[in-house]
Amino acid sequence: MSNDTILVTGGAGYIGSHIVKRLGEMGENLVVLDNLSTGFRDAVLYGEFVEGNTGDMELVGRLLATRSIKSVLHFAAHTIVPESVAQPLKYYANNTCNTRNLLQCCIDAGVEHFIFSSTGTIYGIQEKHALSEESPLQPINPYGTSKLMSETMLKDVSAVNPLRHVILRYFNVAGSDPDGLIGQSTENATLLIKVAAEVATGKRASLSLFGTDYPTPDGTGVRDYVHVNDLADAHIQALNYLRQGGASTTLNCGYGHGFSVREVIDTVNHVNGAPIPVVEHPRRAGDPPQLIAAVDKIQKTLNWKPRYDDLAFIVKTSLDWEKKLAAKQRA
Ligand code: UD1
Repeated sequence: MSNDTILVTGGAGYIGSHIVKRLGEMGENLVVLDNLSTGFRDAVLYGEFVEGNTGDMELVGRLLATRSIKSVLHFAAHTIVPESVAQPLKYYANNTCNTRNLLQCCIDAGVEHFIFSSTGTIYGIQEKHALSEESPLQPINPYGTSKLMSETMLKDVSAVNPLRHVILRYFNVAGSDPDGLIGQSTENATLLIKVAAEVATGKRASLSLFGTDYPTPDGTGVRDYVHVNDLADAHIQALNYLRQGGASTTLNCGYGHGFSVREVIDTVNHVNGAPIPVVEHPRRAGDPPQLIAAVDKIQKTLNWKPRYDDLAFIVKTSLDWEKKLAAKQRA
């Protein structure tokens, strides 16, 4: 815990709200900035909430100047791969241009630490089984490109300013807070485990399985699913690392092994105690066959030790949250 204040952009969203909860439990001072375009005000359990845009330089400049903010955690972004293929400029505007404005405000205000939510998607399609941070960056969709452009800006800015950063390249974030206080409430969700949980609770009729002809062992897409609370721990440790003087760095955040869509469906069926209806479809635009993180760098740099590397547990937390949402809607 420290005396300085942390600005969390996108703190009302799925991932941001879980990190806000952890930081709040630790007694950190927080300002949470979110425009509520996809987030929820009641998911923000700690800190001062400010409704607004990350790209609003007047607002962000004022917050940084008046709240003695030394650290910024930047989650606010659009994140849906197929939507980014259909609407690329939406992604470059929100993810890239708004990050540019935020960085300008941070430099002007003398912010010292910046933690950026990047993505394993920026590696694109590669031969290697597990992708190290040194793998070539070759995103195959506008979402990945918008994040790569932001990474590039951040590195260029850090090179000539006192600001230091940690870029966390998330792989497939999943699951919900095991305490059951918050979870993934995203409307029209596209994430596999979330959608499967909606099918299991009857919110959707069936799960669409996108692509059965990938060059993977069972023909379906393989991803490295990481529990959102392990990701929260990685952020806490990244912040401590920067506060202790750590140099700017880029770290993958995954478990280092993957599951196919069929394996995820099998696990959902098992945890649910009944099979969910599945309908096979062609591949979805922008999806690479496989994304698995090499994780030695994050473990060595942050001494990060995941606590929830268990697909059945991840699925269970998602299902529990979905049941809670369903009960709320019935009430
Ligand atoms: C997710 C993240 C993305 C991140 C990436 C890192 C979101 C919305 N997406 O994308 O930001 O960069 O992880 O790897 O946060 N699938 C189905 N049916 C469905 C949904 C998905 O078959 O209804 C399949 C997909 O084709 C893919 C796999 O499941 O093979 C995972 O897809 P999804 O959960 O949507 O995540 P990503 O697209 O990998």
